[in-house]
Amino acid sequence: MSTGWYVSAVALASFARPLFVAAVRSTDEDEVSHLSMLEEHDKSTFIGCVVTSPRRSLTLEKVVGDGAEGDVYRAKDQSGKYAAVKLLRQGQEVDKEVVNNLKALSSLHSKHISKLEKDFEDVQECCGKPCLVTEFVAGKDAAKILWDNCIRTMNDVDHGMARRGALSYKLLRSILLQSLAGFRDTEKAQLCNTDQQLRNVMFDDATELVVFIDFDGAFEDEDCPPTWPFREDRGGGTSLQSFRSLSYLLADDGDKSAYLELCDRLVKNYATAEQALFGEAFASSPPDASKPGAFFNRHPDDIITRQLQALLDTGSPHIGKVSGKGPWEVAVTTCWPVPQHAPARHPSQNPTFSEPMHAETKPQHHASQKPPSKPI
Ligand SMILES: Nc1ncnc2c1ncn2[C@@H]1O[C@H](COP(=O)(O)OP(=O)(O)OP(=O)(O)O)[C@@H](O)[C@H]1O
Ligand SMILES: [Mg+2]
Repeated sequence: MSTGWYVSAVALASFARPLFVAAVRSTDEDEVSHLSMLEEHDKSTFIGCVVTSPRRSLTLEKVVGDGAEGDVYRAKDQSGKYAAVKLLRQGQEVDKEVVNNLKALSSLHSKHISKLEKDFEDVQECCGKPCLVTEFVAGKDAAKILWDNCIRTMNDVDHGMARRGALSYKLLRSILLQSLAGFRDTEKAQLCNTDQQLRNVMFDDATELVVFIDFDGAFEDEDCPPTWPFREDRGGGTSLQSFRSLSYLLADDGDKSAYLELCDRLVKNYATAEQALFGEAFASSPPDASKPGAFFNRHPDDIITRQLQALLDTGSPHIGKVSGKGPWEVAVTTCWPVPQHAPARHPSQNPTFSEPMHAETKPQHHASQKPPSKPI
């Protein structure tokens, strides 16, 4: 994708998209507006359409997303397995570079990246439209988590609309660490996706896995700290899309500032996503070789166990030897969602962060400060 195209698309999209997105983004009944119903009518013509490959066929069942590039459908094969079919908008073509990027990412077998759907890797036309077929994530995108909890824009936040307490600190930390694993895996494919905003981050309801989608804006670059997705969101009526904005759902002000400090550290301290991942994974629970496995033996909770399992799978020699007191362990005692007006907590319960073990203070990296290709 050329930079010229990229910049002009950003300029156009930043003015044109907010209203459009606000009207048609969701397919949930309670959020369907008049405009979206009109749009749905057009989209429904593709429902029931069958996409075939030599080995399997997929039937389009339902629109699950709508974006700048096209509409995304959930499709089902003969055995009941789902896949995501993205039908590109009129005039768009499947970009060879995007396909190559997806193939490179798919070959990593990362659990945090939606791969090209097996058997459909080379299918680029569906129902007469250019398309891409990827693995389906049964859940919601992270922007929807905000939407479902009354935040779409900074105006909503300023007017006190956010349902604080909707997101617990430990879940947010899990989302963050898993996302860092997603950035690290993107990095492994020697790609940089500055468009990894909240609408491109899926949260699988059943497994609580964070899975990245939409690599249309990815480009080849080995050096890509996850700076852009952690920037400050713009104010007013612009849709929120930065990881920072998830903090508005935290009930506790201490948690909120700890999380924002953590986001700042990611932007300032790390040259690569991999460094950020390991630095943050152990910021609060340094590995202690004398107490191997103590942390794991506590079976703290599903979310954190899975999060750590994902880290374990990276094969790092430091993982599996985590012990000591840190926010993760404190979080075990606060398993329930934080109530809307949480009482002040005992200071010892407030998360504190020591400096990341592997952090190297590097000057802020500007290469990744490109705007996303498709701001909302
Ligand atoms: N693999 C998938 N599984 C489940 N839902 C998906 C999948 N891919 C996309 N979606 C849903 O469809 C939405 C739009 O998809 P995608 O981001 O690929 O399109 P886009 O046109 O690039 O949109 P945008 O410009 O908003 O990034 C996503 O935000 C998500 O809600
Ligand atoms: Mg997208």
